[in-house]
Amino acid sequence: MGIAYDEVYRHSIADPRGFWGEAAGLIDWTTTPSVVLDDARPPFYRWFADGELNTCANALDRHVDAGHGDRIALIHDSAVTGVVTRFTYAELREAVSLFAGVLSAQGVSAGDRVIIYLPMVPEAMIAMLACARIGAVHSVVFGGFAPEELAARIDDAKPHVVITASCGIEGRRIIEYKPMVDEALRIASHEPVSTIVLQRPQVQAQMGDRDIDWHEAMSTSQHIAPVTVRATDPLYILYTSGTTGRPKGIVRDNGGHAVALAWSMRHVYDIGPGDVWWAASDVGWVVGHSYIVYAPLIVGATTVMFEGKPVGTPDAGAFWRVISDHGVKGLFTAPTAIRAIKKEDPQGALLGDYDMSSLEALFLAGERLDPDTYYWATRMLDVPVVDNWWQTETGWPIAANLRGLDPMPIKPGSPTVAVPGFAVRIVDDAGVDVPENVDGAIVIDLPLPPGTLPTLWGDDERYVASYLSTFPGCYTTGDGGYRDEDGYLFVMGRTDDVINVAGHRLSTGSIEAVVASHPAVAECAVIGVHDPLKGQLPRAFVVRKAGVEMDDETIHSQIKAAVRERIGAIASLKDVVTVQALPKTRSGKILRRTMRAIADGRDEPAPSTIEDPAVLERIAPLLRSTQ
Ligand code: COA
Ligand code: AMP
Repeated sequence: MGIAYDEVYRHSIADPRGFWGEAAGLIDWTTTPSVVLDDARPPFYRWFADGELNTCANALDRHVDAGHGDRIALIHDSAVTGVVTRFTYAELREAVSLFAGVLSAQGVSAGDRVIIYLPMVPEAMIAMLACARIGAVHSVVFGGFAPEELAARIDDAKPHVVITASCGIEGRRIIEYKPMVDEALRIASHEPVSTIVLQRPQVQAQMGDRDIDWHEAMSTSQHIAPVTVRATDPLYILYTSGTTGRPKGIVRDNGGHAVALAWSMRHVYDIGPGDVWWAASDVGWVVGHSYIVYAPLIVGATTVMFEGKPVGTPDAGAFWRVISDHGVKGLFTAPTAIRAIKKEDPQGALLGDYDMSSLEALFLAGERLDPDTYYWATRMLDVPVVDNWWQTETGWPIAANLRGLDPMPIKPGSPTVAVPGFAVRIVDDAGVDVPENVDGAIVIDLPLPPGTLPTLWGDDERYVASYLSTFPGCYTTGDGGYRDEDGYLFVMGRTDDVINVAGHRLSTGSIEAVVASHPAVAECAVIGVHDPLKGQLPRAFVVRKAGVEMDDETIHSQIKAAVRERIGAIASLKDVVTVQALPKTRSGKILRRTMRAIADGRDEPAPSTIEDPAVLERIAPLLRSTQ
């Protein structure tokens, strides 16, 4: 293990106040915190409790004020429209402070929520930063979610305004966003005062009484200066799949978040002022929040925002073109994007067309990095391919190879070591630490470091029940894995119902709720099965109700359509399989955990309480099959 890493890690765990108190110096405060960690009310911990700051000022104003206004802050590269737009720090501040004026004119003030449902356009970043500027709490909803999911988020967050666009562009298809927002608002019980609509040239959205045109509003708006907020005030809510189907509103505070991102950008990703950095994700996911928007700007780097796909816009060389055109030093994406490129261009023939000399490392996260993908990317790009493991809840990596602190040898299949601040342990069902190389639940001792979730939006109880109750004193990650003799972590998969489809996190529980509502379905189980491109895909197993006259094919296609319509295209079922029975315990509980273990290729014996082992044997090949 690296000596520098070892020392820093030990310091962060033994003396979190000293460690993070020092790291707080990486950002600008309006009131410097004197209380680094408030632990008066465990299991609720608050970082930098009496500090005050503005996150947007840290991302923009301080760089402009320091004389770097001409440095490029954002390169928006839209492969789907062929347009590249650059904003200097001064220009981005101008746009953000003006849009803050638009929000303010709509009556949005500190603490109010704003829902952002936008494609990958610069306005998504502008809207987020404008909220931060006035202390409003944004909640970005990924464009691939259907109106019903958007409505659930509107009802939970109760936004003052909703921001959307006339359309997104998916490959060659135009997806109209505004009608989806209208439909979501029809379903939701909460009514925002207005919807701000960005009209894109590809589609003109129909405007109603409460709709406001983005450009018109900007043309008459006034600039707004950053307001001071408390470090512990919420910066954003990001909904993620919960095990019950009701999305969980992950809360991010201002102070801890800014400090953690500044620290991680430098020490994990080795990115600093003026470096060109590209996180090829979507602003609707946590990677987009942390590493497209906030972290690169907080450290004064240039962030690339890409509208397009790794393949098909126009071909599998799209990523290499962006790296070469903009001189990208670090690329961050999901393994699935690399698998998609590998599938189209296995020999890397398209790489030869581009100058890749600026690239120093490829970072991959969002799902397990399978060794095949690791070896292929390493061979093709000839740079370190760095796995890092984290979650929406943590907001930044729990385990990584710290490129800016102490780069370590890479072991394929491992995100390397616990990041300073995260006291990671592997435990058995009783919460006892397991020996090296033995699988267990991955937990983190409390307090979690700055930047991680302080609670769930409006639901302290659910926060405790979901994360802090299984192993008292610890945060349960929901992932299982082991640590080897060198201290390297191996994250093998979820122990709950969360699955990862093309780097998108979904709950099989919420898909099951839709499948179960079909009138022909008596009972069902949705399990993530292996897919060579997307990592996992949901497969539904259904038992028919007796006496229903519909044929299987019709039932299956109706179920598939219902999932797309009610959750979104990203949750599309791989297939629906009718079975005579689902494996159960004698008390009638469906053996989902055992089914998941078989699908993941894990060797987990069926419980002794199984009702009929033959049912499990019949279903096992269907769980393993990728066809
Ligand atoms: N708005 C509207 N629809 C969207 C959407 C969005 N923002 N994102 C995805 N969709 C739709 C797609 O058009 C597709 O619809 P279809 O079934 O009608 O074709 C469906 O949702 C599934 O999308 P996806 O899972 O992304 O599959 P894909 O075949 O379009 O692309 C990959 C596959 C691997 C290329 C793509 O998923 C990818 O680039 N993944 C990287 C993921 C990532 O960045 N994750 C973040 C963590 S780092
Ligand atoms: P999300 O909240 O969408 O970021 O998804 C988080 C989940 O994705 C984690 O709990 C893991 O199951 C999985 N995940 C993310 N990164 C990795 C990684 N590097 N290795 C293995 N699993 C990962």
